[in-house]
Amino acid sequence: MSSQDIPEENLPAEQEAAHVAVSIADEKDPFADPGLPPHEHRIQDIDERAARRSERMVALLFTVSMLATVGFIAAYVGIPRDKSIFVFPIGHLSALNFTLGLTLGVALFCIGAGAVHWARTLMSDVEIADERHPIEAEPEVRAKVHADFKQGAKESAIGRRKLIRNTMFGALTLVPLSGVILLRDLGPLPGTSLRHTLWSKGKLLVNMNTNQPLRPSDVQVGSLTFAKPEGLEDTDEEFQTEIAKAALMIVRLQPDNIKDKRELEWSHEGIVAYSKICTHVGCPISLYEQQTHHVLCPCHQSTFDLSDGARVIFGPAGHALPQLRIGVNDEGYLQALGDFEEPVGPAFWERG
Ligand code: FES
Repeated sequence: MSSQDIPEENLPAEQEAAHVAVSIADEKDPFADPGLPPHEHRIQDIDERAARRSERMVALLFTVSMLATVGFIAAYVGIPRDKSIFVFPIGHLSALNFTLGLTLGVALFCIGAGAVHWARTLMSDVEIADERHPIEAEPEVRAKVHADFKQGAKESAIGRRKLIRNTMFGALTLVPLSGVILLRDLGPLPGTSLRHTLWSKGKLLVNMNTNQPLRPSDVQVGSLTFAKPEGLEDTDEEFQTEIAKAALMIVRLQPDNIKDKRELEWSHEGIVAYSKICTHVGCPISLYEQQTHHVLCPCHQSTFDLSDGARVIFGPAGHALPQLRIGVNDEGYLQALGDFEEPVGPAFWERG
């Protein structure tokens, strides 16, 4: 409901005056300051029942926020860290993280929504104009502040009491260290964990799409297959951490096309397995050019030649993709013959 819908007799006197002032300004001087537009009264300003409805809505939002906060605390205490749930369409998630995020989100959203609704419907709705004025203080005010500061410094005897002054500076210098120390809570240092992956001798190569161990016959010339180590399930708590290091790209080349001697020795019937993690800043590589045997990182276009030890032929990546040595076990499945011999992913990890 706008002020146009409100009966004339309900309009306050100042609104009628504003209408008149604007129309007079238009007639006498079309360039005159038109002033503020006529004030629009809200339904809550003229209907007490509407105001009560708004009040109840704001209270309801704040109450939902309180319940969501209680839910957040209950979830934190009651949900095991390793429990996972399926949420359509996202997939499997940590039940604890999902519930904490959801309840905290609802709690914050309801506080914000309640405050906005309160301000828009019930708080004072009067237009206020404030003239701009210089931010800089008058010369007299600045002189007074300067004099007060000098007077304060003199009275505090900070120049004479050197012991106090020095210890105060020491205290002020050290106190930010508390914040630096808290950075330790970001977690333990990675140590050598970035140098090792889940791959070890005898681990089967499992197709990431079908979740089935791979046989050489599953890998055709021209196809790009992604693999993970046997035993790593996407519901595992450490799945993201481990797959970020262990993800593999598997390609079958004609053995005659493999230029690098070590690559040929580490392959099986032309099947080569390389880390899928780009050595620039760690994006997953996903584009394969069958004709040239090049793989391309979509993030910054680093390009690696899989027929030549996955060396970098273009882009910002610092070094070749690490290769995993593979073979087949007695049952004919592709298996790793050890871990990567160098750290996977961005080059700076090696220097850490
Ligand atoms: S992360 Fe691959 S090129 Fe930058």
